[in-house]
Amino acid sequence: MRQPLVVANWKMNMTSPEAKDYCQRLRELLQETPTLAEVVVCPPFTAIETVRNAFLGSDLQVGAQNFYPAPKGAYTGEVSISMLKALDCRYVIVGHSERRLRFGETAETIGEKVKVAIENGITPILCVGETMSERSLGMTEKVIGQQLLTCLKHLQPEQLPQVVVAYEPLWAIGSGRSATAKDAAQLAKYARQRLQRLMNGNTEAMRILYGGSVTPENIQEFAAAEGVDGVLVGGASLNADKFAAIARAYGVK
Ligand code: 13P
Repeated sequence: MRQPLVVANWKMNMTSPEAKDYCQRLRELLQETPTLAEVVVCPPFTAIETVRNAFLGSDLQVGAQNFYPAPKGAYTGEVSISMLKALDCRYVIVGHSERRLRFGETAETIGEKVKVAIENGITPILCVGETMSERSLGMTEKVIGQQLLTCLKHLQPEQLPQVVVAYEPLWAIGSGRSATAKDAAQLAKYARQRLQRLMNGNTEAMRILYGGSVTPENIQEFAAAEGVDGVLVGGASLNADKFAAIARAYGVK
């Protein structure tokens, strides 16, 4: 049984004081009506400690949006996995399309990050997704299949359940135009089958999320999608009330 996972990706938003207010509100809301989903907030590095402290003693988790896969050293401006570990991060987003497009991250680097995160006991949330033109050419599955294989190639089949895959079509991110739940379910099924065949791994235990313009208005659809185990939320996660509503769509205790 895969526990649903609801992840906030704040991207480059929220100062540390703003994060503190937000987390107090989120904690209150989810204490009143606790969700069955596991809830994770991934703030910018500068607010990780604030979020961690605000969530102490609750089931809420803190994660990160990125790291550099070297243990330590002369990498000005970067943050290592052990630094995230020291702040109790349980999850780290890896290979987000914004990092691939704006910061030139390659599949090679992303594959390295997936491996280093797992070796350090932090669950990577690997983002994959196709562009609109790839979609129009009917290449969605081919593109996603290729991204998965290159980014997961360093793993042993038995390590697959330690990865979370987030299907985030690029055209759905921040556009107000989400994929359909049917698209998400089909892609999740395809990803499981492909990894099962090529890596002979236990893909039934691996969680697959959907991301891209998820809101409290459309969450019911995704929460009901077969084989889709949760969501990765950008814009709507910046509001604690909206994010709590999304988390509660997975059922309340
Ligand atoms: P939006 O929810 O703002 O579309 O962002 C999705 C996303 O990129 C989450 O990682």
